[in-house]
Amino acid sequence: MSSPELPLGPDKTRAVRAMFDAIAPRYEMLNKVMTLGLDARWRRRAVADLRLPPTSLVLDVAAGTGDFTRELARQGLRAVATDLSYEMLRIGRHRHARVQADATALPFRTAAFDAVTCGYALRNVADLQATFDEMSRVVRAGGRLSLLEVAEPTGGLWRMMFRVWFRRVVPLIGALFSDRNAYAYLPRSTAYLPDSDTIVSMLNRAGFRAVNHRLLMGGLSQQFVATRAR
Ligand SMILES: C[S@@+](CC[C@H](N)C(=O)[O-])C[C@H]1O[C@@H](n2cnc3c(N)ncnc32)[C@H](O)[C@@H]1O
Repeated sequence: MSSPELPLGPDKTRAVRAMFDAIAPRYEMLNKVMTLGLDARWRRRAVADLRLPPTSLVLDVAAGTGDFTRELARQGLRAVATDLSYEMLRIGRHRHARVQADATALPFRTAAFDAVTCGYALRNVADLQATFDEMSRVVRAGGRLSLLEVAEPTGGLWRMMFRVWFRRVVPLIGALFSDRNAYAYLPRSTAYLPDSDTIVSMLNRAGFRAVNHRLLMGGLSQQFVATRAR
């Protein structure tokens, strides 16, 4: 799950916060280039899969500049954005409540939300089980969870093209237009991510049931959808 040269614990949290504070000004623009705009489609689907009635209250964890949070609003839900990085929240075009917080210790009351979402941040938290436990705590019984995270295609040619893009092109674009170290960290940070079966087990341990895992676009991205136990 971890790599020796990558930071852990509080060192990781500090490094990740400093990195996102630094790349915040160009994050959205570069994200669109690096995902070729496909992330918008994946977020639409992840929000639709919550299957919640309009005006349900959703916490978007690690909301960053608010791409996921705005999709929640577009689909008629009420959203609260929370993120570790002050700059990501400040620069985002948010029209929602914004709360700076670490996902491993959410400052919200138990069962306050109808659902939790989180996009492309699981590999960044210092303690993934604690993060899932917190997500479970703040969602009401029967409430919903929808997570997106990077993945790696399993098919031969697709996997090779993805590797060149993610490991070579993405760091190069990042170095040219933003922060070299941050965008070198991005592909390396996938080493923090457990495999999908382990993530499903961790979600079950946190109190989520009917956890559904699916790969999107041949494994470019992955999604977990679940329901909080009653
Ligand atoms: C790749 S960005 C994704 C932002 C947004 N969810 C999206 O889909 O565009 C990862 C975000 O996770 C946030 N993050 C990293 N570690 C965190 C933590 N421990 N608690 C809360 N947010 C965290 C970062 O500050 C950053 O905004």
